[in-house]
Amino acid sequence: MKKRMIRGTVLACVAAAAVTGCTTDKGASAEMSKGCEPSVVVKPFGKTKDGQLVQQYTLTGAGGVVMDVIDYGGKVVRLYTPDRSGAKTDITLGFNTVGGYETQDPYFGSLIGRFGNRIASGKFTLDGKTYTLPLNNTPGDMPCSLHGGDKGFNAYVWHSEPLSEGKSVGIKFTVTSPDGDQGYPGKLDVTVHYWLTPENVWRIEYEAVTDKATPVNLTQHLYFNFKGEAEGSILDHELTLFADRMTPVNKGLIPTGQIVPVKGTPFDFTTPWAIGARINADNEQLRFGGGYDHNWVLNNQSGKLAPAAALYEKTTGRYLEVWTSEPAIQFYCGNFLTDQVPSKKPGKNLCYRGGLALETQHSPDSPNQPSFPSTILRPGAVYKSVTEYRFGVK
Ligand code: GLA
Repeated sequence: MKKRMIRGTVLACVAAAAVTGCTTDKGASAEMSKGCEPSVVVKPFGKTKDGQLVQQYTLTGAGGVVMDVIDYGGKVVRLYTPDRSGAKTDITLGFNTVGGYETQDPYFGSLIGRFGNRIASGKFTLDGKTYTLPLNNTPGDMPCSLHGGDKGFNAYVWHSEPLSEGKSVGIKFTVTSPDGDQGYPGKLDVTVHYWLTPENVWRIEYEAVTDKATPVNLTQHLYFNFKGEAEGSILDHELTLFADRMTPVNKGLIPTGQIVPVKGTPFDFTTPWAIGARINADNEQLRFGGGYDHNWVLNNQSGKLAPAAALYEKTTGRYLEVWTSEPAIQFYCGNFLTDQVPSKKPGKNLCYRGGLALETQHSPDSPNQPSFPSTILRPGAVYKSVTEYRFGVK
């Protein structure tokens, strides 16, 4: 998408926003009417524990979707989409304060890097040299490095600028991760654009360059619950995955290296299935994941944007298509979520499997898996990846 940046804190259509109730003091309003002029409104969200100011951008899309996004981790804090009757609900998991994200955070709504997903034993060898990463996750008592380490991109305050192009609004995020950051080689310069289009598409464009060869696998860890945040489990959501194959894992959720057909297994989502329909099947992979927490190899391996997943919830009619240029997708159905995690709603907690993530990416542990597509970025090359979350109703 061509970019034209508009500078300033309050951008196009803020007057209209105030009149129609597109925004409130608490953020985006569920009552926002369809057809509002697109706008970006910036205001303070809070401070990190080390005193960094965190800004919130409210993107109001011309098609009716509204997103509150913060520059801390590029996190989508709130995401309002219309249901079949046009009523808007916040359908993503998050926290109302920076402290919420700093104390307990299952990567809600966040940008993830340098390497999304797991690297076995926190080690990889590249061009003859072995690198050691922080061990921040131990599924099945097997330590690994997850989602970029102790301080991944989810915990950075990114440099951010509002964007506007035609009827689309967005945010440009940039960050420089220094050489050796979390054990990874090379200075990595990362740019991520979020766009919200009049067609209710949230488009994410990732780019990165490095000065030394290094693994890169960027993603977004938004959680969906189409009935609304803190409105029960997602087991009744119907999922389609455009993937005939998946990568089985060991008990540490590290791929074995095999790529196996899903046909005839509970991992076959090539036609729509309720997530809960087969989740308790007698299946070793489901036991390892505590449910679905696996990586599917997408049928599209062209590197061009193509459908990866679709999600539907029949009571609200909410429907989503995920399109990506990435070769794989992690489907995680919130097996680690509990009723001890507070929601954004006062006095209300989340629940086990209260949200699901569809994370477009390369397969986990790729730096140690010679048969998987490479995740190594070399100096002079540009890492590029695009994912679209296309919101609608059926
Ligand atoms: C990813 C992983 C899960 C879990 C979540 C965060 O989706 O695959 O196992 O760690 O992140 O809670």
